[in-house]
Amino acid sequence: LASIEVDVASLEPGMSLTVKWRGKPIFIRNRTPEEVKAAADVPLGDLKDPVARNANLPADAQATGVDRSGGKDKENWIVMIGTCTHLGCVPLGQAGEYNGWFCPCHGSVYDTAGRIRKGPAPENLAIPTFSFVSDTKIKIG
Ligand code: FES
Repeated sequence: LASIEVDVASLEPGMSLTVKWRGKPIFIRNRTPEEVKAAADVPLGDLKDPVARNANLPADAQATGVDRSGGKDKENWIVMIGTCTHLGCVPLGQAGEYNGWFCPCHGSVYDTAGRIRKGPAPENLAIPTFSFVSDTKIKIG
């Protein structure tokens, strides 16, 4: 199936972009150092869903800050499928108690790594297959 390339050169830290891929919204965010740290500081035992849900990693990878991100040297980047894992609404960005994403449909709260922290959603926001083809271009799919 089709993959897309997204130019993220204009995304400064703290800026996001939503693109469409296979009919779904894809959230791309250049996280601030504070957001990266907030995600990295959460003990795995505090997570409702401790699995990374990252298509680029083994199915049992844990939902650490880095394994939810673009990787060790790209931990500021987060790329996720923007549909709530409860019933599929599109969450709002930089909203909710953890300043991550908030789903207005039934109140699911995701953190700055897109991990479910409160509310009815069962899983972290899914991470699609993606890679950096250059420092400023992300290939999704
Ligand atoms: Fe998001 Fe129900 S669809 S909380």
